[in-house]
Amino acid sequence: MRMPRIRKVMFPVAGLGTRFLPATKAVPKEMLPIIDRPLIQYGADEAVGAGASALVFITNSSKQAISQHFSAAFELESRLAQDGKDDTLALVRGTLAEGISQAAVPQHQALGLGHAVLCGADAIGPEPFGVILPDDLIVNDGRGCLEQMVEVYEQTGASVIAVEEVPPEHTHRYGIVSTSPHSERVEKLEAIVEKPAPADAPSNLAVVGRYLLTPKIFELLAATGTGAGGEIQLTDAIAELLHHEPVYCYRFEGKRYDCGSKLGFVQATIELALADPELGSPVADLLKQLS
Ligand code: G1P
Repeated sequence: MRMPRIRKVMFPVAGLGTRFLPATKAVPKEMLPIIDRPLIQYGADEAVGAGASALVFITNSSKQAISQHFSAAFELESRLAQDGKDDTLALVRGTLAEGISQAAVPQHQALGLGHAVLCGADAIGPEPFGVILPDDLIVNDGRGCLEQMVEVYEQTGASVIAVEEVPPEHTHRYGIVSTSPHSERVEKLEAIVEKPAPADAPSNLAVVGRYLLTPKIFELLAATGTGAGGEIQLTDAIAELLHHEPVYCYRFEGKRYDCGSKLGFVQATIELALADPELGSPVADLLKQLS
């Protein structure tokens, strides 16, 4: 099957990051670093690794640091060049790989994830696209989560959402799916519901922050009213999409950290430090001393 390529990936980043205040008073939560890279950088690298050539940030006016992070920093760069610090210069310039574009689209009101995605409709246009929620950091030895999903999209020609099992008592934090078997790691979506109480959840298979969506979703989002939490939910539009097209769920390879929570953020920091070639051994020693 010859499918349109996934060229654009959207990052809904207009949230206020209240769980990390006061750190996020002046700094967008997506700019908080895990070791030496802000969360948004991990997401951008994953998108580019999946073949994206355009990054679309759905943002608000206090998030300029995100655009700046992916733009040239002339003063800093010329200083590093003058000082012959070529490696550091490459790091600074490499935040956005050559040939990759970025665009920022404002979300003026915090009306939910579905509303954020709808704000990006014009920037994406009539083509399939990716969505990455950078709070969900997904780490792999091999191919990134979105790249794995692109393969499923190419095989099925349909929308794909990443899922993983969560403890049953956590269903109220996620979109929860019920599925039927398709192939290894891939299941056909049968139903999806946003943040059900454990007693009402159809399973403990949760949507994590990676989606590949056909542009039909925009039309459906435009007609989606408020749902769980009084917000316009992407989950509700995906439930509607099921009446028009098949949607697949993909059990990704890799490890997800919920960096929207303090504990997940600390866990990601520790585990990525332990996996780092330079930091790994001293951090392991440090942890031994502490335990
Ligand atoms: C959003 C989605 C939810 C999904 C989650 C993944 O919720 O609405 O369906 O399971 O992301 O992180 P949020 O975490 O923004 O409340």
